[in-house]
Amino acid sequence: MAQVKLRDIRKSYGKVEVIKGVDIDVDDGEFVVFVGPSGCGKSTLLRMIAGLEDITAGTLEIDGIRMNDLEPSKRGIAMVFQSYAIFPHMTVRENVAFGLTINKAGKAEKAEKVAEAARILQMEHLLDRRPSELSGGQRQRVAIGRAIVRDPKVFLFDEPLSNLDAALRMDMRMEIGKLHQDLGASMIYVTHDQVEAMTLADKIVVLKDGMVMQAGAPMELYHEPDNLFVAGFLGSPSMNFLEVTVDAVNADNVTVHNTALDPIDVPHKGRSFTVGQTATLGIRPQYLHPSDQASGKLHGKVILTERLGSETVIDVSLAEGAKLIAALAEDTILAPGTAAHFEFDPNQAHIFPETR
Ligand SMILES: Nc1ncnc2c1ncn2[C@@H]1O[C@H](COP(=O)(O)OP(=O)(O)O)[C@@H](O)[C@H]1O
Ligand SMILES: [Mg+2]
Repeated sequence: MAQVKLRDIRKSYGKVEVIKGVDIDVDDGEFVVFVGPSGCGKSTLLRMIAGLEDITAGTLEIDGIRMNDLEPSKRGIAMVFQSYAIFPHMTVRENVAFGLTINKAGKAEKAEKVAEAARILQMEHLLDRRPSELSGGQRQRVAIGRAIVRDPKVFLFDEPLSNLDAALRMDMRMEIGKLHQDLGASMIYVTHDQVEAMTLADKIVVLKDGMVMQAGAPMELYHEPDNLFVAGFLGSPSMNFLEVTVDAVNADNVTVHNTALDPIDVPHKGRSFTVGQTATLGIRPQYLHPSDQASGKLHGKVILTERLGSETVIDVSLAEGAKLIAALAEDTILAPGTAAHFEFDPNQAHIFPETR
């Protein structure tokens, strides 16, 4: 177990800065997920922690010791890549033992550690096979096994499930969650998939353009997003965003409306607004409830009803070309073209000063 601390970490390639001053804390035994769209700098950050990329500026500490200039093998980390990076000409046993062989570990130690990793990953029966005789999920397990035998203080995973199909991804996601429970090691896991982030993380770090947009527990980010980007990134279907006009700024809330939305008071949570400005109202599809015209706050027209089994998703068009998605637990069918009215609790809505 180990603590990892990043302070004002920066990375430039030539004149282009791709990591722009990042502060992140990973506590002992914590599972931290870096999530964000492709190109936001997740791999670069992970590779700097691993020592595979130079740190342009800032400080990286593991257990209070500066790591910036320490070579990768001295940092007490092990990394698992999307591409598995296992050797085709070696058996599973040789692949898993690879790091130990390089470090000139004894035969008995190697056998013991490989057996332990194989037990944890339930691949004892695969040890004598070669990678070509394994499925994608089994290959990734070999790569994870190779990390386990090194007994690292910190595990680093870079999109380890991205090459797997959907069903296998879910299985492996659960296995990685269980691995973390069993080993109790600090883990940093990179993904662009918000579902993996929500399900695996103790702490999520949302990144965009080389900057941290917000860090916190999954449900904290889900319920209290700091900005439009985080609000729109986590949750499925995504949060609805409506452009609204600010009519009044009150002590704890702002009054907003638009042509499809009756005036409502939404908690502003300390964000600053001015009367008359355009702002963005966010409402999760799950918090919208069909109602009649009188008690409804939002008014539009049904485009489509999609039944997914677990929920029913209604596509609605609002005035001025805006769209709305409602996700209903009940099997409610609203006919296309009919008027739709929704009520919701303004305390479950979010108001942001910025527009998209
Ligand atoms: N070796 C490199 N040289 C120049 N630019 C790079 C290099 N590696 C990554 N980048 C740039 O850094 C940014 C972050 O990349 P990366 O960390 O791979 O993103 P992610 O893993 O989030 O998809 C991207 O804009 C990418 O083009
Ligand atoms: Mg990447």
